[in-house]
Amino acid sequence: MLWTSKQARDRPLELAWRYMVSADVRRVLAIPSGFRWSEKEFRLWMQRRTALVVERNREVVGFIVFDHTETEFRIHNLAVDPGHRRAGAGRLLVKELITGLGNSRRDRIVTDVRETNSGALLFYKALGFKALGVQRGLYPDTDEDGITMEYRLPRETTDGET
Ligand SMILES: CC(C)(COP(=O)(O)OP(=O)(O)OC[C@H]1O[C@@H](n2cnc3c(N)ncnc32)[C@H](O)[C@@H]1OP(=O)(O)O)[C@@H](O)C(=O)NCCC(=O)NCCS
Repeated sequence: MLWTSKQARDRPLELAWRYMVSADVRRVLAIPSGFRWSEKEFRLWMQRRTALVVERNREVVGFIVFDHTETEFRIHNLAVDPGHRRAGAGRLLVKELITGLGNSRRDRIVTDVRETNSGALLFYKALGFKALGVQRGLYPDTDEDGITMEYRLPRETTDGET
């Protein structure tokens, strides 16, 4: 469908997630996050299929990297391009862990946040995470403590189970 410039301007901005692929790595490296990760690190997580990107109108604007055990998800890195923040992109990625990739046996999502990263702390709080504890000196590069944030996943019930 062809859009007039006014229609295009007024069109709601579409957000969508997908698994990270090789072609995304350069783009995600350019998104500032709390860590200086190498291309190799992103590729490793990508190959394990534990890295997602979020697109806004088909442009990659953010990513999340996580892993999981039988009982929990752990978010290792999450960032949205500064020009696209506060548009729901971060929420979409975390919600995907909460719902789409959910597994009835996993009962929580955890992550650590630098104590001075108030934006991220408020973000996780807005999504329903709670502060679980402080890890002294978790970030030696900036001499900061880490705040562990936890989201309790609702237990799914199957036939007859409670
Ligand atoms: C944290 C981060 C991923 C949030 O991504 P985002 O796409 O901007 O977040 P969303 O738009 O989905 O925000 C959802 C809600 O979280 C809250 N929130 C998000 N950023 C916030 C901020 N800076 N201050 C206060 N509340 C905030 C708001 O309630 C927001 O809803 P609203 O915009 O309707 O008020 C992003 O700010 C970022 O990339 N920060 C730098 C990297 C980082 O700190 N990563 C996390 C630790 S690894």
